[in-house]
Order: sequence, then C-alpha cells, then structure tokens
Amino acid sequence: RRWRHVFPTALLLPIAGCAGAQSSLDPAGTEADLVATLFWAMTGGGALIWLFVVGFSVFVTKIRPSAYSDAAGVHLIVWGGCVFPVVVLGFLVWFGTAAMPDLRRASDGPRIAVSGERFWWRIAYDVEGEPGVARSLPKGGVASANELYLPLGRRSEILLGSPDVIHSFWVPAIAGKTDTIPGRVNRLVLEPTRAGTFNGICAEFCGTAHAEMGFRVIVLPEADYLARVAAEAGPAALTAHPGRDLFLAHGCGACHAVRGTEAAGTVGPDLTHLAARRTLGAGILPMDEASIARFVRDPGAVKQGATMPPFRHLPEAEIATIAAWLGRLR
Ligand code: CUA
Repeated sequence: RRWRHVFPTALLLPIAGCAGAQSSLDPAGTEADLVATLFWAMTGGGALIWLFVVGFSVFVTKIRPSAYSDAAGVHLIVWGGCVFPVVVLGFLVWFGTAAMPDLRRASDGPRIAVSGERFWWRIAYDVEGEPGVARSLPKGGVASANELYLPLGRRSEILLGSPDVIHSFWVPAIAGKTDTIPGRVNRLVLEPTRAGTFNGICAEFCGTAHAEMGFRVIVLPEADYLARVAAEAGPAALTAHPGRDLFLAHGCGACHAVRGTEAAGTVGPDLTHLAARRTLGAGILPMDEASIARFVRDPGAVKQGATMPPFRHLPEAEIATIAAWLGRLR
C-alpha cells in the first residue's frame, strides 16, 4: 500500500524530458514538430499493440482460464501476434514515409556554413559559392562560433562539414540531427517557428570533450537577425587596449582572428565579438572575464582535449589584461 504512489510517479519520469530548450518534444521548428508528431504516433501505436496483446493474454490465462484452449491460443497468435501488429505497424510506416517529403523542402533563407571541430562549432553566415571539387565547405562569410542566429519563419540552409572527425549537429527543438562528415557537405534546412534561445549539442562521439561540445541557437525576427549578422560582420568594438598588445605579442593571432587588429588566425574560433556570446568554450562556461582568464590559463583543465595550449606560464596580470580586453569585444 505504501508503494501505491510509486508506480504512477515512475510513469512521470520519462516525460520529465518533454519540455525545455533542448527537447524534441517541445518543438519550435517545422521538422521538430514532425518528429514530435511521429514520436507520439509511434508511442500510441506501440501502446495499443502492447495493451491488446497483454490484455488478451491476461484474459485467457488469469481472468477466464476456462476460456483457454489450443484454439484460443492459435487465435491469440494469429490475431494478436500477427494481424493486429501488421495493421498498426503498417499504418505507422505509411504515416512516417508520407511525412518525409516535408523534410526536403527548398530553402528560402540565408546560407550558413557550420563546421563541427574538436570541440567547438565554426559558424559562417552568408557563405558564397557551392562546395568545390575538394568538397569542403564554401568559403567566405561572416565568421563566428558556437552561437547560431536564425531568422524566424525562414527556411535557412545549413551547410555542414568537418575538418577532423565525424560530429553530429543537433538542435532537438528545431530539427533532427545531421552528421558533419570530413570531406563532404551535408545540407539541413532549419525552419524555426518560435523565437527564443535553444540548446544544441554534438550527437556523435568525437573524442574526450564530445559531451562538452554544445552550442546555442538564437531565433530572432528577421529584421533583428539581419541586424545581428551585420553586427557580427563589423570589426571589433575595442582595438586600442593593453590586452590587445599582449594578445598579439604572445602570438594568439596565429590561431584566432580579431577583425580590426592584425590577428587573422583561422585555426581556432573567431574572437571578434567573443563577449557578445552567452557562453565560453562551446557552452561550458559563462561568458565573463574570470572564465576567459581561466580558459586562457589552461584550456585542457577546463575542457579535456582542447587543442589550444595552456598559457599558465604568463604572469597572472597579463592573463587578466588579455581577459579584460576580450571580455569587452561585444
Ligand atoms: Cu563533436 Cu561529438
């Protein structure tokens, strides 16, 4: 008796993941909407089969054992085990297949390249050209990282690639996941139907920091989206600062770009508008000066497998000055 609440409560546990910024069951995009519909249809169909088969079995074995005979057993197998599942599963296959063309609709929005890299996301807005014979991502565009802005109600074309290993780009609330594969370009059309901030994650094991390879998707009304991308395209907000001098003196510009300065590296994330992002290190730290200093001091301690070397040999005051500069690059 004491346990009578446990079963219903346990039933609630699986639906604890049904809401939130990273749930495919709280859809904010056309494709996620379809995925959620399919999920509930499959769950309903599966539950129907389960109830019918188990109910029939309980009936003939427990409730009316006298009704059980070899003939009843044959009926159970033929109707409950074959005909009924074939009808229900057949309907689900048709339902799922008929929904597929909706996922292949052409884009009417911006073209954005997203590259999965160990262990962050390179983003370039308004990329030009088609992928060439090298089958790498198209070049150019407005460089950013780990935060993807999308216009509300538009079908944005996302071109997915990778320079190292296979990652998988997944924003559960907006669309299903698609792999980023070295040497080829995968296309994904994202059509957000609700403004807001959503969480994305790498969904393919890619190394030690796979679980720390998150990103944000920020859906804005189209005018705000265009303003945001125009801001991303501009040079750094602050180019005269002692932190900039230290940044360049210690060679940070070999890997990172800060437009408006001599730093033009392309190995690591573009830092031109670093402080405008909500998180640091692909979703693992809040964006503030303390986090930037911590990351610069020892990236591997914050994120195992980070490619950036540690700079803990620098005097703390210099790290703080660099962080103070980067923390103002909005
Ligand atoms: Cu990238 Cu897992």
